[in-house]
Amino acid sequence: MKKIGIYAALITMMVSVGGVNAETTIAGGMSTGEGDAKAGKTKSELCQGCHGADGISLDPTTFPNLAGQFAGYIFKQVQDFQLGNRNDDTMSAMAATVTSREDLKDIAAYFATRKQMKGKASRSKVAKSGAKLFKDGNKKLGSYGACIRCHGEKGKGKGKNNSLFPVIGGQQKAYLIKQLKDFKSGKRTNDPAGMMAMVAKGLSNKEIKAVAEYVAGL
Ligand code: HEC
Ligand code: HEC
Repeated sequence: MKKIGIYAALITMMVSVGGVNAETTIAGGMSTGEGDAKAGKTKSELCQGCHGADGISLDPTTFPNLAGQFAGYIFKQVQDFQLGNRNDDTMSAMAATVTSREDLKDIAAYFATRKQMKGKASRSKVAKSGAKLFKDGNKKLGSYGACIRCHGEKGKGKGKNNSLFPVIGGQQKAYLIKQLKDFKSGKRTNDPAGMMAMVAKGLSNKEIKAVAEYVAGL
């Protein structure tokens, strides 16, 4: 618990100054308003083969949605794949094909300006327990684990000026589960200050499924 307390204080600090942090340091250099979405449409043809022409995944079991995701977040993730800070056999190879920062900015701007991802709400019991976790956290993490604190109401993040916290509401369920498990196991480690790993390590596999069921429907 003591360790969680220290992290929580650090995170609270980061969250409160997030607007500045996200654009100047953490997102790796893409500011709001940068990138040419029109040019990005053509430059992202390869990406559209998996992520869809409008950023809605063509295979929900494998590929994430990018529609309406913050440009700064997309920029950071692709850069992380390029640098080896995040690894996936398929996506790491795709990231390597984007050779200029300008192209990446244009591509990120294109997907960010597509109609934002939106799921279909599930009324299941599982989704209900996921909703509680999303809003209140769980026993192990306390309110530190409440997703809403960082991912915002409905999981739509804190706005494009704070791309530190991605849109997760309406994301594909299978992808959400995979990412939470990757953070939990330590396969994915590119989260600033280890914020997401701290949360994911405090979730059971059952809780991961429940929260994914709820979040995918937002
Ligand atoms: C052959 C299929 C394929 C293509 C083409 C592809 N991707 Fe991906 N992409 C993936 C997969 C699979 C993942 C999920 C990786 C994981 O599980 O961590 C992913 C993940 C991502 C993510 C992370 C999303 C998030 O929410 O964190 C971004 C951003 C992304 N891709 C951008 C791109 C861009 C930009 C291009 C074009 C240059 C591209 N992708 C081309 C398969 C593809
Ligand atoms: C203390 C802040 C914080 C809390 C609380 C938090 N997250 Fe996150 N989350 C983040 C950050 C920051 C990232 C982006 C990591 C990166 O840049 O790669 C993230 C990323 C994610 C991703 C990956 C998104 C993608 O597109 O790949 C998922 C899924 C996620 N969070 C789900 C959750 C869920 C579910 C909860 C609640 C159980 C939660 N988060 C609670 C900060 C938080």
